[in-house]
Amino acid sequence: MTNNIYLIANWKMYGSIKSVNSINKVIQLSKKPLLKNINIVYCPPFTLSHIFAKKLKNSKINVGAQDCYIHHDTGPFTGNISAKQLKNIGLKYVILGHSEKRNDGDTNKIINKKIFAAIKNKLKVILCIGEKYEENIKKLTIKTLKKQINDCLKNIPKKNVIFIAYEPVWSIGTGLIPKNEDLEKIIKKIRTIVLKEKKFINSKFLYGGSVNEKNIKNLTKIKGLNGFLIGGASQNSNKFIDIVKKTII
Ligand code: 13P
Repeated sequence: MTNNIYLIANWKMYGSIKSVNSINKVIQLSKKPLLKNINIVYCPPFTLSHIFAKKLKNSKINVGAQDCYIHHDTGPFTGNISAKQLKNIGLKYVILGHSEKRNDGDTNKIINKKIFAAIKNKLKVILCIGEKYEENIKKLTIKTLKKQINDCLKNIPKKNVIFIAYEPVWSIGTGLIPKNEDLEKIIKKIRTIVLKEKKFINSKFLYGGSVNEKNIKNLTKIKGLNGFLIGGASQNSNKFIDIVKKTII
């Protein structure tokens, strides 16, 4: 692991008004000097974005969204939310290309447009990439990741810092995680592809997929990782606190 660690909580389509106060304990913990190198980012569903942004305004914790629309501004696009609107309520990050959005029809081309919209509004992009189970079995992992990276980042100005979250689709919500040695090799490869030709030089590299309070300690041993994208376990504050603590100690 690197010194500066990112723990990004993806709440997916979970959470209600009642669950907002459950993060109070995490806010308290984030004030401890021991956590100075830990960057926590909450990505709740859109219905809670504003309330999270207000609640976390004076804290060390940032807030992100789980998606944004392809058009960066505002306009007659019923049912969509733009990067400009996210920025307007104080959000700093946006997750793009999550496999659950790819399942809804997001292609690399669409994700590329969303990345343009996000950076135009100075949102930090967390780009998710990952192979499906069949691709993994057929040893197509690197080929798949390379295409996702190159297509999604096509023509994106190279000065941008991109957070690349490697999330094998077969690992999400299944309890299955690649071995540390395999993850280390894949992260190294991803890093080489992303940073090629001196592009995106300050980018960060994350792992996501079944990260929890039981396996985090072992995952922190992986070299070259800047942090984790955490789904299920981040929605339970006790588990999330456990993850945060085990990341530092
Ligand atoms: P889980 O941690 O629930 O496997 O989800 C991972 C994920 O999809 C984070 O974006």
